[in-house]
Parts: sequence; structure tokens; C-alpha cells
Amino acid sequence: MERENKVWWKNAVGYQIYIRSFSDSNNDGIGDLKGITNRLDYIKSLGVSFIWICPFYDSPMDDNGYDVRNYYKVDKSYGKMTDLEKLIREAHARDIKVVIDLVLNHTSDENEWFVKSEKKVEPFTDFYVWKDGKVVDGKLCPPNNWVSFFSGPAWKYSEKRKQYYLKIFSNKMPDINYENETAFSEMEKVIDYFGELNVDGFRVDAIAHIGKDLTFADAKNIKKTYKSFSNLPNTHEYLKRFNRAFARNNMVTMGELGGDPTKQDLIKYTTQKELDMIFSFEHTNIFTKNHMINRKALFKALKYKEGLSDSNGWSVLFWLNHDYPRLISKIRNVCDPKNAQICLAGLMYMLKGTPIIYNGEEIGMENYQFKKPSDFKDVNAKMIFENTDNIDEAFNNLKETTRDHSRTIMQWDGSKNAGFSEVKPWSYVNENYKKCNVEKAMKNKDSILNHYMQLLNIRNSVGQELIDAKYRLWMKGAVIGYSIDTISQIIEVVANLGEKEKKLKLNGETLYSNMNIADNLKPYQIVIAKRNK
Ligand code: NOJ
Repeated sequence: MERENKVWWKNAVGYQIYIRSFSDSNNDGIGDLKGITNRLDYIKSLGVSFIWICPFYDSPMDDNGYDVRNYYKVDKSYGKMTDLEKLIREAHARDIKVVIDLVLNHTSDENEWFVKSEKKVEPFTDFYVWKDGKVVDGKLCPPNNWVSFFSGPAWKYSEKRKQYYLKIFSNKMPDINYENETAFSEMEKVIDYFGELNVDGFRVDAIAHIGKDLTFADAKNIKKTYKSFSNLPNTHEYLKRFNRAFARNNMVTMGELGGDPTKQDLIKYTTQKELDMIFSFEHTNIFTKNHMINRKALFKALKYKEGLSDSNGWSVLFWLNHDYPRLISKIRNVCDPKNAQICLAGLMYMLKGTPIIYNGEEIGMENYQFKKPSDFKDVNAKMIFENTDNIDEAFNNLKETTRDHSRTIMQWDGSKNAGFSEVKPWSYVNENYKKCNVEKAMKNKDSILNHYMQLLNIRNSVGQELIDAKYRLWMKGAVIGYSIDTISQIIEVVANLGEKEKKLKLNGETLYSNMNIADNLKPYQIVIAKRNK
């Protein structure tokens, strides 16, 4: 496949695949690479031009693969390197590009780099962030007050090395020290290796955190200790160097930018030639505790994302991923959740940026009903329970927020295990799989799936023009809309996010509506229209 079109990703639609839960080809209860290959025609039919596959590397699976033991090996539950090669070939044959997760911030503690580092075998001694503990009241304590994203201290003591290592995620995920040359050169080799394999790009995991406050002082704000390892100047420095490796392989990058970056921080990542696209998370706060939509927050978030694509940057447009609950469950108390999801999809995916749909989103997969603390599989949930005195409160919170919701089994059809596998899957199958599955949704003209296909079809037909278009976003009461001024036409996107009808005044040809067009916009109706200039 030609690699010349350097900015193919500005006119593309992505599909994120959580490999473990997607499709099981060998009936061991775990999704795998061949399973993805088997589903490429379905993915293509959605209007998707690239896939992003979550980590498939050899791993002890403490964090389902984000803890990489060996970057050059596919985990045995997911297949072999030859399966990856075949998947890339088959995807390219269908004009689908392949983006994979690249974990640069940390490895598994079972990675041989860490095993050597712990024993101080050169040149790996300083490959990770090692520090002596502090003695407080005669007791050995972590070097500072930093807290892990998964709860509890960000440090773990190594009996072998008699020092603490930094781990801002789980205990088994030691952070890499990029002040160390070997760490850089080993990771550059990994990038080159996948470039050689014809991978088209990386979703760069937790990239905002690769730079740390190198004074390792206590953070002043104990509630925000992550600021000491998020979006710091050395992150930008390290990324500039990595960018040379991405560029020489002609690979696109989409960076996950957590840790509360400011708009200025975000703009730096793209304008300073560090990353191509940015994932920012401001839109995750548009949902109320009561499972409704906060329209003002939604308007602000849409404007913010579009604005980022305007400042020589480029946003990834997404509603959820494998770290968030299901979209339709977040808005389950509105009067028409199905059409509300379609409105949110239309508003987000017609913006300037690159849409990525999360597997299962397109059929409106819902949250799972967790009944007790031991139901959770995610290491994050387990660490929260380990570090709390109030299990009930933690459970009530996790019931809504756990990452396990988005990791339940992909619902393909109404057969046993939702068509994912012939054996009991590693995770839960939502009870609603007989009603909510791909096979059924394909046959129903009014399904979320069919609406997504129509929306993505429109997006693809005008995608090239959107790159340089001028956007004007507006909000009037419950109605949010925008006009897109392209070279040849004006496209209007208008959605009624209220529960009452609203006057509709749109001229031009209707490209799409999720309900019949009348004089009024019905609750949760979205219309896209165009007129020539
Ligand atoms: C972000 C990933 O999306 C998440 O799933 C993972 O746990 C952390 N980074 C650590 O790799």
C-alpha cells in the first residue's frame, strides 16, 4: 500500500478494537488477531479507513496488555507475529490502515529490561526510575508523596534492589526513565521494527507522562500529584526525539494526553512536531450524575475540540474508549437514549478532526450490571479496593465508572456467547445480547448501527473538504448546531438536545436526519443539510 499520502489520516475514520473482547477465532475464550482479520469486511462496511488495535504484545496481563513483557512477541493468547503480518496484509488489501498501541511510558516488571535493571545489569541499571526511600519516624517510606493513577502510592519497593521504583499505574508497570540513553535507543528499535512490518501508525499510550519532575520533590497539591508527571517540558523534549523515529518510518501518531493538559499544552504537541493527532478528554464531563446531557458543557467541548484542529493541530474525535463506560448508558435517563446517542455521534463526528468509533459503540452496547466487588476484573478497580476503607462507597462508584463496562464481549449475534466464541469468554456478555447485536442491527434500518453507517458515509463523502473548512458553532436553548463553510458548499449540522420540539429553519438539501423532517425538530433529532455556495 502506498505510503506517500502523508496526511491520509485527516480524511479518515478509525475503529478502535479491544482485542481481548472483540472476536475469538480459536475458541479459547479470548479475542485474538485472527478474530480481527475475520471481521475486516464488517469493519470496512462501517465506512472505516483505519483500525487501532489495543496491545497484543506478550504480557502477564496485569493491565490486559498495557504491561508489555516483550515488544517483539505477540502474546500467545492473541496469536503469532505471522498473524499480525497477515492482518496487516488483509487490512491493506481492503484499504484499511493499521494503527497499533505503543506503550512508551512503562513496561511490565517481567520485561527483561526490568529484570536486568532490578539486578543492576548494565546498561539497564537506570532504564527505570529508581530512588531510595525516605526514613520517617524510623520507618522506610516512598521517596515522595506521588499517587498512582490507579490509587495508592506511585512507588513500589524492590526487595532485590533495596530501592523504590516509580509506577504511576499498577505495581507491575514500572515507569521508564528517558534520561537514560539505553531506554531511548531500545524504544526507537521497537518503533523501527513495527515500521518495517508496515504498520501505519501508533496510538501512543500515556504519552503525557513520560517526563517527570526530575527533582522528585513532594507535590504541593496532594490531590493533584499527577501534575508532577504530566505534560512537563521534558515530555516535549523526549517526544521530539521519538518523532524522528516515527517520521523516518512514515508513521502517524495519535497521543493520549491525560493529566489535565491546558489548551496551550495540547497545541504544543502538534505544532512542535511531536505528535500528529491528540486525544483530549474535556468531553468526558458532559454527562450529568443523573445520566443526562449537560448541554453547555457539550457545546464547550465541541468548540474546544474543533478549535484544536484549527490551530495547526488535529483532534481525535471520540466519545469513549476501553477506559470509559458505554456511551448510551451515560445518557440513559434522557427520554430517547438511542437518538440522543445518534445526536452526540453526529455532532462529534462531523467536526474537524478524525473520528474513532469504539467497538460496540456502533450497536449501542450498554454497561454491565456489576453486583459485588469481586465481579470486577480490571486492575484499576482492584487497586481502588485495596486502597480504600470504604468498600461500599468504592463499589457504588465503580458500578458506574469501571473500565470493565467497555471491555465486555462484543455482541455479534444472538447465539451462545453472543457469537464471540464457542467457549465461556474471559469477560462478561451483557444480558441484552439477544436484542443488541451486530446481526440484528444490520437488519434494522432504524438501528444505531445503520445511523452510524449513514453518518460515516456522509463524513467520508465530504471529509477532504472538512480539512480546510471554517466552522461556526452555535447554541440556542437546547439546540446545538454548526455550519461548515467548505470550498464549494455550506453544510449545516443541527441537533435538538432538549425534550421538547423546536422550530427548524434549514435551507438546502437534507443529507441526513435520524427522524422524518417536519417543521419542527423533535427531541433528539439531528439533521445535516447542505447548500451550494
Ligand atoms: C492508558 C490506557 O488507555 C489504559 O487502558 C492503561 O491502563 C494506561 N494507559 C496504562 O498503560
